[in-house]
Formats: sequence, C-alpha cells, structure tokens
Amino acid sequence: MIQPVILSGGSGTRLWPLSREQMPKQFLSLTASQSLLQQTLSRLVGVTTAVPLLMGHHSHRFLMAEQLREMEQAATLVLEPEGRNTAPAIACAALLARQSGDDPLLLVLPADHVIGDVQAFQYSVSLAVPLAEAGYLVTFGVVPTQPETGYGYIACGDPLEGGHRLAAFIEKPDARRAAELVENGGYLWNSGMFLLPASRYLAELERLNPSMLEACKAAVSGAHRDLDFLRLDEAAFRRCPADSIDYAVMEHCDHAAVVPLAAQWSDIGSFDSLWATLEPDAAGNATKGDTWLTDTQDSLVFAEHRLVATLGVQNHIVVETSDSVLVAHRDQAQQVKQLVAALSQAG
Ligand code: GDD
Ligand code: MG
Repeated sequence: MIQPVILSGGSGTRLWPLSREQMPKQFLSLTASQSLLQQTLSRLVGVTTAVPLLMGHHSHRFLMAEQLREMEQAATLVLEPEGRNTAPAIACAALLARQSGDDPLLLVLPADHVIGDVQAFQYSVSLAVPLAEAGYLVTFGVVPTQPETGYGYIACGDPLEGGHRLAAFIEKPDARRAAELVENGGYLWNSGMFLLPASRYLAELERLNPSMLEACKAAVSGAHRDLDFLRLDEAAFRRCPADSIDYAVMEHCDHAAVVPLAAQWSDIGSFDSLWATLEPDAAGNATKGDTWLTDTQDSLVFAEHRLVATLGVQNHIVVETSDSVLVAHRDQAQQVKQLVAALSQAG
C-alpha cells in the first residue's frame, strides 16, 4: 500500500512578502487557482486511495483544514507543537502508519512544490514502487541545470530496474562543491520527495539517531485528538532533536536508490524560480493582478491590492501586498531570505 505523507510544516521566507510566518508558501495560490498544498494532494489521484497524513505546525491547523474542505479532500491532520524539521515529521508519520500493523510505502511529498507534468511524476512513482518493496529508501532525482546550493545532490551508482543505486548523497554543498558536482555530470538533484518502506525508515533512524526515534515514539503514543486534529504529545516532541531526513538519514544510508524524475519539477525556492515557472511572456515578464508595464523586460510584477505600474525596468522583482512592497534585482532573489531575517531582527 502507498501511504501519502505530506510535509507542510515549513515557513518559507524567500517569497516574502507573499509568504509569511502565518501564511507560508504551501498555502498560496502562486501558479494556479489551487494552492501548492492543494495541487500536491490533487497529484495523488490515480496513485493511491489511502487517506494522506498531513504533517504540519499547529498554528496552521485551521488554514490546512480550510484548504482541505475547499477541495473536499479527506486527510489525517497531524499537528507538531514546534518545527523539528523533516526527519521527525516523517518518523511520526511512519509510526502512525504502522499502528494498524501494516507496513506501507510512505510517499513523502513536500507541500510546496510545483510539478508541471503530473503523468511523468506518477510514472516515476510507479518505477519506485518495486524498488521500495525490495527495501530501498527511494528518492526522486532531477537533472541539475545550475550549481544550486539549496539542494541535495545524489551520485548515481549501479543501475537497477527503474533507477540506480544511490552511491552518495551530499546535502546542500557549498558553491564550489556544487559547481564541481554539476560539471562532473554524474549527479542528480534530490527533489525532496521519497518513497520509503515505513519499517525500513524507522530501522535506519534507530541505527542513526535513536534519541530522535525514542522522542517520536513517545510523541505518537501520547498523541491526542482535538476536534479533527491529532496533536502529537507536546513535551515528548519538544525534546526531539531537530534534523532533516537528508542530513539525518539519506547521507548515511547504504540501502537507497534513485529514480529519475522529468516532470517539470520546481520547488519555487525563490522569486527567480517562480518567475521561470510562470512561463514569462515574449518580453520575459510574469505578472499577476492589476499591473501596467511599459518598457519593462524580464521582470516579475505582482500586485495584490493596488495598481502597480513600471517604466523602464529590467530584471526586477516587484511584489506589492497590503502592508509591504518588495523591489529587488532578480539576481538577488536568493537574498530575500537574509533580508527577512534582518527585518525581523530590527523588529
Ligand atoms: N511537518 C513538517 N515539519 N514539515 C516540515 C518541517 C517540519 O518541521 N520543516 C520543513 N517541512 C516541510 C517544508 O514545508 C517542505 O515542504 C519540506 O518539508 C522540505 O523542507 P524544506 O525546508 O523546504 O527543505 P529544503 O528545500 O531546504 O531542502 C529539501 O528539499 C530540496 C528540494 O526542494 C532537501 O530534501 C534537499 O535535499 C532537496 O534538494
Ligand atoms: Mg524546500
């Protein structure tokens, strides 16, 4: 059985002022009328009928419930009292999925990605199933296009039916190493999606980080229902060490595989990737809302509340919301994160 696990606990800051702590990017409708979370759930039609486990932060619970209601989607909403990154969230999902005595394959999907070719995504999942059934922790790999430092890199090893053995996993290399890896040619980007035999993931965690597993077991066994939500035990989860699946497990796992993914995937990690995903017009512009562009090229212009007019603007990002306006050069799209950190420090 394939059990979807949707990771929705992140608080993306690189799309400020569109995304906020209380409205992270998975809840925004950036590329379609559905939000990124809703698109992620829609993508499962035809893959599995199991009710997804939606893992998120308790402060977003009503937002998650409302977005599910809008699309008439059933899900088990599991609330974390505090973010502990992805390794514990997946561990809690695995423990919950194992409660019935089954040992499903967990299809772990970040809630904030865009996939242009859903059929290709579903094809990659079908290739991954026999590998996961054979006990591999499977990742989905994307051919890199630039030396991105925000991604994990996968070295492909011996061929397997449908993919490759994973020879090495390098999470978020520095700029020099990333350039070497892309130039080398034998590496794929980790898409951040996984197909994991639940028991195998838990066994790896037991080996690699037993205190994380112990805290997650206590958080799940002490979980309680609250309205339609399942709240993990707060004290137990708070003492859980924070780490991502990439650093905690994938970098140290010797029984992993990678399946290629060619599905127009993007994690919309910055305004620059949002601009590219929106398929800019002939002048290279991507716009939303009430905008008026004159002599403007290669820019992203978003207006949420007011008319935004530009004149003689190239390679810029202009984002207007009710309380803040961002004007930035496209080359510096990655630095928005630092800008937000500086702003919140300044109070
Ligand atoms: N439930 C829950 N709890 N979800 C979380 C938490 C948490 O504490 N922290 C992050 N998430 C969710 C995010 O909302 C996102 O959907 C997903 O988990 C991945 O977290 P990110 O913080 O976005 O990770 P990343 O983008 O830096 O890196 C990962 O994704 C890259 C591809 O986009 C890694 O897997 C990289 O190796 C990968 O290349
Ligand atoms: Mg991400």
